Amino acid sequence: MEKMVNKLAIDGGSKAKTTPNIPMYPGGLEIGEAEKKAVMQVLDDKYLFRYYGPSDVESKVKLFEEEFSSKIGVQHTLATNSCTSALICSLVALGVGPGDEVIVPGYTFFASCAAIVAAKAVPVIVEVDDSLTLDPDDVEKKITPRTKAIIAVHMRGVPCNMERIMAIASKYNLKVIEDVAQSTGGSYKGKRLGGLGDMGAFSFQYHKIITAGEGGAVVTNDMMLYERAMSYHDAAACWRPGGPEKRFAKARYNGELFPGVNYRMNEISGAILRVQLERLDGLLAQMRQNKSRIKNAISGINGIEFRRLNDPDGDTGIVLILFLPNPEITGKFAEALKAEGIAASSMHNKSVPDWHVYSHWDMIINKWTATQEGCPYTCPHYLNKGGNVQYSSDMNPNTLNYLGRSLHIDIPAQMTGDDCDMISEGILKVAKAYL
Ligand SMILES: Cc1ncc(COP(=O)(O)O)c(C=O)c1O
Repeated sequence: MEKMVNKLAIDGGSKAKTTPNIPMYPGGLEIGEAEKKAVMQVLDDKYLFRYYGPSDVESKVKLFEEEFSSKIGVQHTLATNSCTSALICSLVALGVGPGDEVIVPGYTFFASCAAIVAAKAVPVIVEVDDSLTLDPDDVEKKITPRTKAIIAVHMRGVPCNMERIMAIASKYNLKVIEDVAQSTGGSYKGKRLGGLGDMGAFSFQYHKIITAGEGGAVVTNDMMLYERAMSYHDAAACWRPGGPEKRFAKARYNGELFPGVNYRMNEISGAILRVQLERLDGLLAQMRQNKSRIKNAISGINGIEFRRLNDPDGDTGIVLILFLPNPEITGKFAEALKAEGIAASSMHNKSVPDWHVYSHWDMIINKWTATQEGCPYTCPHYLNKGGNVQYSSDMNPNTLNYLGRSLHIDIPAQMTGDDCDMISEGILKVAKAYL
């Protein structure tokens, strides 16, 4: 006998969700009078560069760094122009470079991996587990004598298994960089993400929890790592804080000063981020409330599993990820939810390119590089250490399997209780028909 269900919208029935979908720009949608005032202040002061201007005011970037350190619970923050640059600064600060391998998950935005190549090291791409973050067992399997660091990506708002990752790092003497781009404000066992590893990298790009359109930050509790990151992000510590005497001072220790790039944050971004940082905890509370409202309403459905959380209390709540029985059902389910008026998507489909899934990282899989010599893969430092990394689009089957069964629903902070209830209703309706 056919299951008795309300007719699905995809089959011509009425939609479960009748309100418009709110785009996923949690901090971005809140930009208002306070941000405008902060920007106008920078313009009125004509103080647009963090190290000087015509007026005697404190740098907004510097103030943001101090406030961010205190929010995250770390000793040092270095503001940058992006998370990609924050990752590169962190790798450079840690001494990662030619001949080194760095472990990175096969599910992350491509930038986490590209940063490794930019730092002249070789990425080793490992599996994620059912939390869709680094699988600690696979991390351990893929460590070689060349491994220098692990990039632990707190993907889609949730923490990695930091306890296991830090234990592995300590066993093999590896450095850990947390990629917190998608999880600002999240935590693991009571500690904010970013401060658990050796260094943490954040993004304030427009899609992120708090934003200035673009922007990033490096955090660390180690003064020397901060100084090295700071030097690199600023050509050669050209603007070392502390006035001209400090700027032109000789290196105080081997490795303090070396040529770098310019990844500095500008004052307008700093001013906006100070306001956005004040909004952070409110945004997190709202997203967490919305997510648990939906989870409570749909829990216990046969055929639907929630993504496993390494620490449910540390989830930022930005997204709800459901595992369905197989990729076919997942694809059908996503289409049916869309027809119900719910912005859902399946997370991996071979034919749909997605920069978050390693199998689409052609530049890495084919070892394409900017110059013909093919460094870092052909670098003598790498070859002499026996390095011979091999990539293929199917090398991490568990990752593709989990992603193939994953359904993604964004949880905007601005959703109302009614929005959440309509989403739950739509999921229940489609589940009744398809599972
Ligand atoms: C996990 C992850 N890492 C790094 C980045 C790069 O951030 P940015 O755009 O600030 O360089 C992103 C951005 O989407 C990301 O999601």
